[in-house]
Amino acid sequence: MVITRTREELYKILEEFSKKPGKLALIPTMGNLHDGHLSLIKLAKLKASKTITTIFVNPLQFGKNEDFKKYPRTEKLDIEKLKKEHCDILFIPRNGEEVFSKTEKVTSLDSGSLGSELCGKIRPGHFNGVLTVVNRLFELINPDVAVFGAKDYQQQILIKKMAKSLHPQISLIKAPIIRSKNGVALSSRNNYLSEKELELAANLFKCLQNSVTSYQKREKLNEILDNANSFLVSKDLMPDYFELRDSELNIISKNNYIGKKIFLGSVTINNTRLIDNIEF
Ligand code: PAF
Repeated sequence: MVITRTREELYKILEEFSKKPGKLALIPTMGNLHDGHLSLIKLAKLKASKTITTIFVNPLQFGKNEDFKKYPRTEKLDIEKLKKEHCDILFIPRNGEEVFSKTEKVTSLDSGSLGSELCGKIRPGHFNGVLTVVNRLFELINPDVAVFGAKDYQQQILIKKMAKSLHPQISLIKAPIIRSKNGVALSSRNNYLSEKELELAANLFKCLQNSVTSYQKREKLNEILDNANSFLVSKDLMPDYFELRDSELNIISKNNYIGKKIFLGSVTINNTRLIDNIEF
């Protein structure tokens, strides 16, 4: 695996790799890689013959009171894991300037009204920061394919919309959620939780599963959502939201059985926010 920490080196490496046949797949990450990230790389390898992973903890997507400073940074371990997966290139910028140079105008993107709903309501500006950095990485790397995890479903929909208008040549791939044995969706933020809290966290997935079953049994949507919220609170998981949407994240206010749906939830447990969803 070739590791690059500067944009200049990155361009040189990309130039070399462009001479090799096949597609280039990008897997953007913020590091602290777990099996969820590694599954993105495995999927990328099925879709393209060359892979590039980026590790960049993007300050633009963290609010003032969020965990930018304490976000887990585990560079050495990450590099080992990427080598094992036979990732070809790692871009791990030595500082923010390598991504957003002070001498260039940064194109700040606006995530629109969907960017202020669901997670965006709790994290104002978060999705603007995500779109801005992903657009920047697309500009710097210009991959053929880019892979994003379905756990961050809202992020993936917003990136899909952004790419459709600004980078239509890039194919986006949605990778399935990877879960621990008890059902908790893998996330770097799970590291903040104790064993006991992780056990409690499994109830978010249970709640999503129960809600899907109830919906399929044609129970009333408002009752399903009320039951879900009470269930989460009873398990010490403070719901930030728990909703049913269609697969493009349009609001659904009444039961309908046409097209794909998704139950999405976000809960806070001891100051840590966890998100999860089931598409059905
Ligand atoms: O999902 C993430 O890890 C981040 O939001 C991303 C896509 C790497 C942008 O910083």
